[in-house]
Amino acid sequence: MTGIKPAEKGVCRSKEYYDTIPEGETLLSIRNLRVVFKTDQKETVAIEDFSLDVKKGELVAIVGPSGCGKTTILRSIAGLQEPTAGTISIGGTVCHKPGPDRGMVFQDFALFPWRSVRRNVEFGLELSGMPKAERFDKVERYLKIVGLE
Ligand SMILES: Nc1ncnc2c1ncn2[C@@H]1O[C@H](COP(=O)(O)OP(=O)(O)OP(=O)(O)O)[C@@H](O)[C@H]1O
Ligand SMILES: [Mg+2]
Repeated sequence: MTGIKPAEKGVCRSKEYYDTIPEGETLLSIRNLRVVFKTDQKETVAIEDFSLDVKKGELVAIVGPSGCGKTTILRSIAGLQEPTAGTISIGGTVCHKPGPDRGMVFQDFALFPWRSVRRNVEFGLELSGMPKAERFDKVERYLKIVGLE
């Protein structure tokens, strides 16, 4: 595909910055998150007053019944859902936009069917502006790890 723009700069902190944060220090901080979906017919309060701190190196699972807002929280952290109120800070910076410092595995089908496996895997790297040869090596490495080469 042509015309792909490099990822917007300044949305997230660099890997070098994250490396300076010690293990056990708060990396992700959600404060009083509220997300409301509005349609012509109704208003759905998906998230109400949700706060959470996640430390560097910590593994967190969010568990709850269907429709309680798990995906909405993850989409908000990924910057794919603008909070109605509240803040999401990553590395001490309020960040409500997507950035290459966060990844999300979607619940639903999220591949480009017109692209090959290789070209689907390299899509994010392409967006970041990585040169073709470097992309090729990286994609090759990860496809081999999962046996898809
Ligand atoms: N784009 C949207 N427009 C309107 N309502 C939405 C939208 N996305 C989610 N909702 C509503 O927000 C609430 C939370 O949905 P969400 O998908 O975050 O729940 P979930 O916990 O991930 O559910 P599941 O376990 O089924 O995946 C639900 O009531 C859902 O119907
Ligand atoms: Mg979900």
